[in-house]
Amino acid sequence: SEISYVMIKPDGVQRGLVGEIIGRFERKGFKLVALKLFQCPKQVSGGVAVGGGVCCNCLDIAEEHYKDLSSKPFFGALVEYILSGPVVCMVWEGAGVVKSARKLIGATNPLEAEPGTIRGDLAVQARGRQPAWLCPLKWPLVGRNVVHGSDSAENGERETALWFGKDALVSWEPALAPWLIESNE
Ligand code: GTP
Ligand code: MG
Repeated sequence: SEISYVMIKPDGVQRGLVGEIIGRFERKGFKLVALKLFQCPKQVSGGVAVGGGVCCNCLDIAEEHYKDLSSKPFFGALVEYILSGPVVCMVWEGAGVVKSARKLIGATNPLEAEPGTIRGDLAVQARGRQPAWLCPLKWPLVGRNVVHGSDSAENGERETALWFGKDALVSWEPALAPWLIESNE
């Protein structure tokens, strides 16, 4: 069935919001099928280091994760942000989970995200909008928006394979499933 890759970004981990964010998905009723705390090793083993030294494998993962944005002026800053500290990687499963997780997370810009959403309740900084040519010496700001959620079922599969590898998902039946999802069997 459908899966979404959800990741608590470094600001969410540093601010101690891990339990709060996982709790929201748990209380909603989706099924957790993978979970890990993940810190990219800080050594550089070939490749180009961004932001003062990161491992090229993790650079590859973060760049691959956001590859659709690779032509954007903020791409370097975005990858640097994702690599700047530990992240919590999760996979949530359930019918409609991709769209629902995006609703729970809220709009990209935390200042526009509705109260009741994770970004609306827990974050304040809008991303910077200035183009790179206006600030050639600085990366454009990507802001701090606490959490990521896959934007399609295909990306849910792709991002899960990227961050967890194949066969990482745990298959289990939550005891409360019949109280969450009605079945006519
Ligand atoms: P993710 O869940 O992290 O993928 O965010 P999203 O799906 O809400 O937004 P999107 O995938 O379009 O962008 C990924 C990240 O890039 C955002 O979370 C922002 O941190 C950053 N970003 C997106 N658009 C802009 C922009 O126009 N300017 C800047 N500076 N950063 C942006
Ligand atoms: Mg996105």
